[in-house]
Amino acid sequence: MNFHTRKWVKPEDLNPNGTLFGGSLLRWIDEEAAIYAICQLDNQRVVTKFMSEINFVSSARQGDIIELGMTATHFGRTSITLRCEVRNKITRKSILTVDKMVFVNLDENGEPAPHGRTQIRYADEAFARYRESSRPAPQGVVAVEDERLAARAEAEALH
Ligand SMILES: CC(C)(COP(=O)(O)OP(=O)(O)OC[C@H]1O[C@@H](n2cnc3c(N)ncnc32)[C@H](O)[C@@H]1OP(=O)(O)O)[C@@H](O)C(=O)NCCC(=O)NCCS
Repeated sequence: MNFHTRKWVKPEDLNPNGTLFGGSLLRWIDEEAAIYAICQLDNQRVVTKFMSEINFVSSARQGDIIELGMTATHFGRTSITLRCEVRNKITRKSILTVDKMVFVNLDENGEPAPHGRTQIRYADEAFARYRESSRPAPQGVVAVEDERLAARAEAEALH
């Protein structure tokens, strides 16, 4: 699982108890998961279909830096299933887990469409494809599982 996105817990993210408001966290997770699904399926038309139990393991406080981790656990015909964990970036203490988030790949009519993917796409594959098509790689079109590949892809992208 890669933890791409970091968030700094600010006063506007707090609940009346002075800890991170669950709604803020869920918004961040849904966005992060959608971006992950878009990158994996190479289609911007994906929608959240299902979220399993959300387990708020521990709280975060103002000033904490948290990081959001995603990985794909299943590729269906039109869907992709992700697992998510949020943890404190400094202490690595788990804050939240979602075992199953299902996103559906849609066509231009908003109907479920086969995506043709069967496994996690790595950064070097995505960059190779963009290099071949001689288009610049858009920022954030990378879903990386492996730190080493990510570092290499980032270095290549800077050339
Ligand atoms: C997404 C939507 C088009 C899917 O329609 P649908 O009639 O359920 O489509 P299907 O029955 O063909 O299912 C599509 C995929 O979702 C999966 N799915 C459907 N219901 C599911 C559920 N409750 N849990 C897990 N997966 C589910 C199916 O297994 C299928 O995956 P597969 O093709 O990989 O096997 C429709 O439900 C919808 O528009 N929902 C609203 C989405 C939304 O607004 N989200 C919030 C904002 S992003």
